[in-house]
Amino acid sequence: MTSPLKLIIDTDPGIDDAMAIFYAAATPDIELLGLTSIFGNVTATQATRNALRLLEWVGLNDVPVAQGASKPRTLPAFPPSHNVHGDEGFGEMPAETPEGKALDEPAAEFLVRMARQHKGELVLCPIGPLTNIADALDLDPEFASNVARIVLMGGSLEEGGNITPHAEANIYHDPHAAERVFASGANITMVGLDVTHRILCTAEDFDAMEAASPRLGGMINEMSRFYLHFYATVGKHDGCSLHDPAAVIACTHPELFTPRAVPVSVSCEKETSGKTILAQDDRPETDVLMSVDASAVKRQFLHEMSKLA
Ligand code: BDR
Ligand code: CA
Repeated sequence: MTSPLKLIIDTDPGIDDAMAIFYAAATPDIELLGLTSIFGNVTATQATRNALRLLEWVGLNDVPVAQGASKPRTLPAFPPSHNVHGDEGFGEMPAETPEGKALDEPAAEFLVRMARQHKGELVLCPIGPLTNIADALDLDPEFASNVARIVLMGGSLEEGGNITPHAEANIYHDPHAAERVFASGANITMVGLDVTHRILCTAEDFDAMEAASPRLGGMINEMSRFYLHFYATVGKHDGCSLHDPAAVIACTHPELFTPRAVPVSVSCEKETSGKTILAQDDRPETDVLMSVDASAVKRQFLHEMSKLA
């Protein structure tokens, strides 16, 4: 057996973030080295609290959490996406105070330190706005080459947006940071709406998850009702997208996706802010995932989640 992938997830939990983190905890393919929090679906303070609580629920109390940025680099702060993820981030579940605390070290410094310590091995999986990653790139000129790969959930090449007609939410919430990341020269895989819109889970899938894993699968089932309801309100009745779990699965199962290597840039113009477009300069290419074996990804997700307590 190959050794597990050393992974840090940068996250704004968030219902599909919770699914992604539980998946990472359940699979033997991943050694989770930490979580870094970011504003987005919730505030940065809520994101840190939720990240700690998710780790405690899965029994990974020793995995560190570092708090990240509370607003975008240049744009004014955005209100959290309560309509999609609920007031506290997990649908209608009330807030719970974690037993543990975040590190004193800010997220960007933690990322820089971990990338140096695990040079060439660390995979970074951002599933929220990219502000912490851009800050880490600014802090350490070697950060881009120290990380083995950045596999990010965000963007859309041909699929259109989900928060505006042009933009995907994570990129929209900090387009300047995203542009900094795509231009950085790091080895980047973009897991955007071109693939995540193809990977859908229904209420029946989450019921089955609860049947296999009553406590943690039951929690995801409860959260997913709110998420599915949001999807239905925007006319999507055939299930919710596994955005963030797809990015984590792409880290360990790249063979389930087909990439297109293109240079990616991000629009910071008012009308099209957050749109991922083809770059016109000579920056390195990003592997943009354009098609997916959706049933295999979903099977993999449900299989590992069924192992949760
Ligand atoms: C992304 O936006 C957030 O709402 C989700 O958690 C996911 O990371 C999808 O566009
Ligand atoms: Ca997210």
